[in-house]
Amino acid sequence: MSILQTNNMQGSLRGGAAAPRLDKRLRMVANLLRHNRKLIDVGTDHGYLPAFMVIMGYSPCAAATDINPGPLENARATIEKYGIADRVSLILSDGLDNVPPDGEEIVMAGMGGELMCEIIGRAPWLKDSGKALVLQPMTKAEELRKYLADNGFVIEKETAVRDGSHAYLALRAVYSGETKNVSKAYFYIGELLSGEISDDIIFYTEKLLSRIKHKADALNNTEDFKEEAKELYEIYDEISEKLQVSLRDFNK
Ligand SMILES: C[S@@+](CC[C@H](N)C(=O)[O-])C[C@H]1O[C@@H](n2cnc3c(N)ncnc32)[C@H](O)[C@@H]1O
Repeated sequence: MSILQTNNMQGSLRGGAAAPRLDKRLRMVANLLRHNRKLIDVGTDHGYLPAFMVIMGYSPCAAATDINPGPLENARATIEKYGIADRVSLILSDGLDNVPPDGEEIVMAGMGGELMCEIIGRAPWLKDSGKALVLQPMTKAEELRKYLADNGFVIEKETAVRDGSHAYLALRAVYSGETKNVSKAYFYIGELLSGEISDDIIFYTEKLLSRIKHKADALNNTEDFKEEAKELYEIYDEISEKLQVSLRDFNK
């Protein structure tokens, strides 16, 4: 049973302790995490994710980190409310700079993809065996995927959820040391259409396609950017084709 399902009945598991209610976006992130591993939540703010994972017994312990004291105080309030200070440590840190490299599941959620690249680049221990990244970029997912591919990380899984009119993406990556030869379209769609698809994944992909088309059209109107526009139209076509194939399988 996935956390997407169990979150609706939280409180009835593991001795009845209440846990923070995660929204769809954070439940998606929780679903990508391996159980029984120490979690590090970078840029935690309210600390809901580490609190949820620890209270439900999915993670034995966690570090909740943030660059700003205010958000870290929010996390402290959550941790005190649920009485889990013995299992969740709070660390004031820019990225992973002050965080001991003892976590195995490293989450960055609700941040821009470019910031994630900077944070990963400053923490070479993320390449150690047993470490995994669970990333939920709000912007620039294509730059994040490129960075991961260029730096020897392989994407194991991607997924997306729809919450109202918003669509969110999350991915799980580990270091393999290999660099994959991929098309430019891969940086935009990654592994999202490689596994089982869902209405939410279709919704995310359609939004992505309209964003790409919008940008390509805007560039195409300017003489100097025709080449860039052409490249984006090609990316658009490649992803559209992939989506059509996935839709055929989905509707079977
Ligand atoms: C939008 S909140 C996301 C909170 C939570 N992770 C979530 O997904 O709901 C982004 C958080 O990242 C923190 N942040 C921004 N830059 C950071 C950095 N370089 N290192 C650590 N935390 C950072 C902010 O202070 C803020 O609390």
